[in-house]
Amino acid sequence: MTTPVNVTVTGAAGQIGYALLFRIASGAMLGPDTPVRLRLLEIPQAVRAAEGTAMELDDCAFPLLAGIDIHDEPAAGFAGTNIALLVGARPRGPGMERADLLEANGGIFGPQGKAINDGAADDVRVLVVGNPANTNALIAAAHAPDVPAARFTAMTRLDHNRALSQVSAKAGVPVADIRRLAIWGNHSATQYPDLFHAEVGGSPGGALTADAGWLTEDFIPTVAKRGAAIIDARGASSAASAANAAIDHTRDWVLGTPEGDWTSAGVVSKGEYGVPEGLVCSFPVTSSGGEWQVVEGLEIDDFSRERIDASVAELSAERDAVRELGLV
Ligand code: NAD
Ligand code: LMR
Repeated sequence: MTTPVNVTVTGAAGQIGYALLFRIASGAMLGPDTPVRLRLLEIPQAVRAAEGTAMELDDCAFPLLAGIDIHDEPAAGFAGTNIALLVGARPRGPGMERADLLEANGGIFGPQGKAINDGAADDVRVLVVGNPANTNALIAAAHAPDVPAARFTAMTRLDHNRALSQVSAKAGVPVADIRRLAIWGNHSATQYPDLFHAEVGGSPGGALTADAGWLTEDFIPTVAKRGAAIIDARGASSAASAANAAIDHTRDWVLGTPEGDWTSAGVVSKGEYGVPEGLVCSFPVTSSGGEWQVVEGLEIDDFSRERIDASVAELSAERDAVRELGLV
């Protein structure tokens, strides 16, 4: 039997964890021929709940599930891990300012980055889901100087999938026939979902952008504020769709993106499209050989430029705030 891939999931007893673990164990993330060993990392108060989830995983008798370990301490949770899905984060509480949130999460993602640095497998790949995802990824990467920065990513695949769904509904075209959408910037309300390079049912996506009212008053805000709309409707933040996006992101990272298409991911900028080096920013990306590549050479008009710049400015401000707090 092939050696199992070690997958660590933090926040394993949370909502997203519950929607994610069973799909990983079923083979949806790494394919039907790759066994997985799950490491569930939680805080001590939630270990009991994680044990319950592990009992349910056992009860599924997944043929690909080679084992489950539960940890409440990062060094053990990340020892030898190949894929780290950092889902657990501190939610914003009443009266908490953004800086308080950044500081609280610095206390989580700094030590986790260090534990990944010290003990993870040489090929470790990290996806940060917990919010604020881009800046949490920046903090984790800053604490892992021996791990290539390109191995730290933040999730904007949910935003990408939301954009696909909105375009599909507007154009009456199946999602499978929509290609080359892109999410730029931060996983926040400033993100910019870009249709200008898309192909929708074999036609240029630019045709949809001609409907300026729909583009600026419907499509862009619907995608960018979808997280808040879900919280409003469900009374809790998106979970199954977030887990699905984490599966999509990791699968494409490891197994590659389809020929002729791209997707979106928060990756460490090397200065592409004028985004300051080192920021974890969402770009259009392809993956091959287990590495993301930013799609280069796209023409960015003034409409897109203004929106990309606004979201990148927010990322820079978040980086400045965590620098001031001594977290990076
Ligand atoms: P949740 O509150 O249901 O679960 C979070 C879990 O994390 C809890 O079980 C908690 O005990 C655990 N946790 C907290 N600190 C931890 C630590 N230091 N180590 C390990 N575990 C820890 O939340 P959820 O709905 O599962 O969401 C998790 C995060 O994902 C939130 O930050 C949410 O905002 C974010 N999110 C991101 C996206 C995205 O697209 N990037 C989408 C949806 C949600
Ligand atoms: C989402 O996009 O659904 C979440 O990031 C929203 C949130 O604030 O948890």
